[in-house]
Amino acid sequence: MGFNVAIDGPAGAGKSTIAKLVAKEKGYIYVDTGAMYRAIALYLIRKGVGTEDNEGFEKYCSEANVSIEYDNGTQIVLLNGENVNGLIRTQEVGNMASASSTNGKVRAQLLELQRKLARENDVVMDGRDIGTNILPNAECKIYLTASSRVRAERRYLEFKEKGTDCDLDTIEKEIIERDERDMNREIAPLKQAEDAVFLDTSDMTIEEVKDKIIEIIDNCQSK
Ligand code: DC
Repeated sequence: MGFNVAIDGPAGAGKSTIAKLVAKEKGYIYVDTGAMYRAIALYLIRKGVGTEDNEGFEKYCSEANVSIEYDNGTQIVLLNGENVNGLIRTQEVGNMASASSTNGKVRAQLLELQRKLARENDVVMDGRDIGTNILPNAECKIYLTASSRVRAERRYLEFKEKGTDCDLDTIEKEIIERDERDMNREIAPLKQAEDAVFLDTSDMTIEEVKDKIIEIIDNCQSK
């Protein structure tokens, strides 16, 4: 059994940026579970399934075989053997991932892959239900959040850097809708685990958040 760090929180809270840095510093593997949901979402989009089409999720999700590889510490998500890392970071795929991850069959499909990675490695795993559902016995749990405006601003900058045209108010509106769906779905909704440390990063720099999380992990390890 590896040493497991679970980081949950809403979209744009900085989970993946921070988890990557923390994993590197601690020599752990970084597992981005959102990317797995995004890979299934990409498959569903390719099949022409809409975000409201629960029957379509049921019908096609089992055809989307998701697996993970590591290249120099970077997680590569394979969808039926195809590296889809460069295709899954769009608002369209994010919205589809949020919609289709409400479906029990989609969630069940990824559960064992996530648990296996955590059993076999020291991991920093981020997502929505890691501390509450996937790894309830994780040694260390963190709930990372920030105001919706700050999260939208971070996403806006990411898109701008990539040269993608976007609008801050629209991004914030979509983030609020995504929070609403992720927190209120029936199966494994996003919520803080009782034993998770709560961290609001609205007024913190990346470096400050990383240092704080390393401190929290070191504390968990010395217990
Ligand atoms: O973290 P992200 O934005 O890449 O995640 C995309 C969507 O996937 C998110 O809106 C909800 C879903 N998701 C989930 O339901 N459970 C997880 N552990 C990770 C992501």
